[in-house]
Amino acid sequence: EKAGFEHFMMKEIHEQPKAVRDTLNSVLKDGQIDLSEIGLSDEEIQEISQVYIIACGSAYHVGMASQYVFEDMVRVPVRVELASEFRYRNPILDQKALAVIISQSGETADSLAALRLCKNEGIRTMGIVNVVGSSIAREADNVFYTLAGPEISVATTKAYSTQLIAAYVLAIQFAKVKGTISEEQYCTYIKELETLPDKIQRIIDDKERLQWFASKQANSKDVFFIGRGIDYAISMEGSLKMKEISYIHSEAYAAGELKHGTISLIEDGTLVIGVLTQPALYEKTVSNMVECKSRGAYLMGLTTFGNYNIEDTADFTVYIPKTDPHFATSLAVIPLQLLGYFVSVAKGLDVDKPRNLAKSVTVE
Ligand code: F6R
Repeated sequence: EKAGFEHFMMKEIHEQPKAVRDTLNSVLKDGQIDLSEIGLSDEEIQEISQVYIIACGSAYHVGMASQYVFEDMVRVPVRVELASEFRYRNPILDQKALAVIISQSGETADSLAALRLCKNEGIRTMGIVNVVGSSIAREADNVFYTLAGPEISVATTKAYSTQLIAAYVLAIQFAKVKGTISEEQYCTYIKELETLPDKIQRIIDDKERLQWFASKQANSKDVFFIGRGIDYAISMEGSLKMKEISYIHSEAYAAGELKHGTISLIEDGTLVIGVLTQPALYEKTVSNMVECKSRGAYLMGLTTFGNYNIEDTADFTVYIPKTDPHFATSLAVIPLQLLGYFVSVAKGLDVDKPRNLAKSVTVE
């Protein structure tokens, strides 16, 4: 059942190119996005004036990354909320908003409660859900199914990757309908999405280097992930992967926040992972990495092929293929999944069933 892999997590990491391709193909028709099966018409999209993305855990991190993509492409305000916070704070909701609830299982108690709250307030709801017929899928007004297939490992990988695709597709279609991108840009974005499965495959094929690096880092006490913008959202997911399966304390910080307190935690040899996929923010994050290094940090850089001058700063670098910066999360997350996995294996931990965690969180 593990198809020759030692753990479900590694099997599911390898299933990502197919899961991403399947999810994308499910909403493409003749090279265009077609949301008719989801039941969202262009007229309805035109009416939507803001978007709330509500989720827990990794699905929330998809929301964080999507917010940048959505606001940049569509120019509508997007709010990303933790379901467990949203539901208890009497939120002010706009009647013309779309609430997008992201959930692999479709059964997460807080996400389901947030969906019901939105429905009670008369807000249109859409579920981005993996499990067919789950509670969120049944109760949402519209469902965008991710085609990841069954995910067994507690730590999500392929569901996360397909949720990102769903969010990109919505952003691109909204941008087209609302006229914030040209027809040409629309086609370019779709073509770029179609290249992601092969690029993900290339990163996976290169995993031995990460395995080596992970074996050296297995005794780390703390790891810090830093980035700006989308790279901050990627950092959050990288940090969660690390802590949940390797039991190493880790934190994600917006790189610009370091000097507002966190940098006092950097000691000799502390591993700091800088995520640098966004050209406009590259230099800024490099300078934050330099600040960490001068306090003794050991630096890993995660950036795009071509940014070779990172090697002047970083002690170890992982390169990912080039893509449109909006979609960089889909590639940058893969080495971070692999890193968490290999550290967990190096420590001899139960990768697929980390302590204290359940696959589906049906208690509040
Ligand atoms: C982390 C992870 C969790 C889930 C979260 C939401 O690897 O898997 O953080 O993302 O529990 O679960 P779903 O998506 O089922 O609502």
